Amino acid sequence: QPLETPYELIGGAETLARLVDTFYDLVKEHPDLAPLFPEDFTEVKERQYLFLTQFLGGPTLYSDRYGHPMLRARHMRFPVTPKRAEAWLACMSEAMDRTGLEGDVRRHIFERLRLTAYHMVNQWESDE
Ligand code: HEM
Repeated sequence: QPLETPYELIGGAETLARLVDTFYDLVKEHPDLAPLFPEDFTEVKERQYLFLTQFLGGPTLYSDRYGHPMLRARHMRFPVTPKRAEAWLACMSEAMDRTGLEGDVRRHIFERLRLTAYHMVNQWESDE
C-alpha cells in the first residue's frame, strides 16, 4: 500500500476546489492583494486549482496544460513584497480553517506554502 499523498489525505479534488474558492474569496477582499488581480477570478481559480493539485501530489494537471510552472518567473510582473506574501499566507490560513483542514497534513501543507510564498518575493522596498 503506497503512502497517501497530502492531496489524498485532505480529500482530493472536492476539498481542494472548496479551498481554492474560499481562498480567492478572501484575496478578493484583501486590500494588499486585490489590486493585483483581475476583476474576474474564474481563470485564476482554475489555474491555482490545477497547480495545487500537482503541488500536493495529485495528478499533474497544471504541467499537462501549461508546461513547467516556473512560478517565480510568472510572478515577476507583479510586485510581490514580504507584506503581500504574509497577506497571501493569512488568506490561505483562514481558507484552510474554513475548509476544515486540520492536524499534521494542514501544518505540512502550510509550511510548504510559506516557503513558496517567500520564494515569490521579488521586491523589498517599502512602496506599499
Ligand atoms: C498567479 C499573486 C503567491 C500560485 C498569480 C497572479 C497574481 C499572484 C497577481 C496572476 C493572476 C492573473 O493571472 O492575473 C501572488 C502573490 C503572492 C502569490 C501576491 C504572494 C506571495 C503564490 C503562491 C503560489 C501561487 C505561494 C503557489 C502555491 C500561483 C499560480 C498562478 C498565480 C499557480 C497562476 C500562474 C499562471 O498560470 O499564470 N499570483 N501570488 N502564488 N499564482 Fe500567485
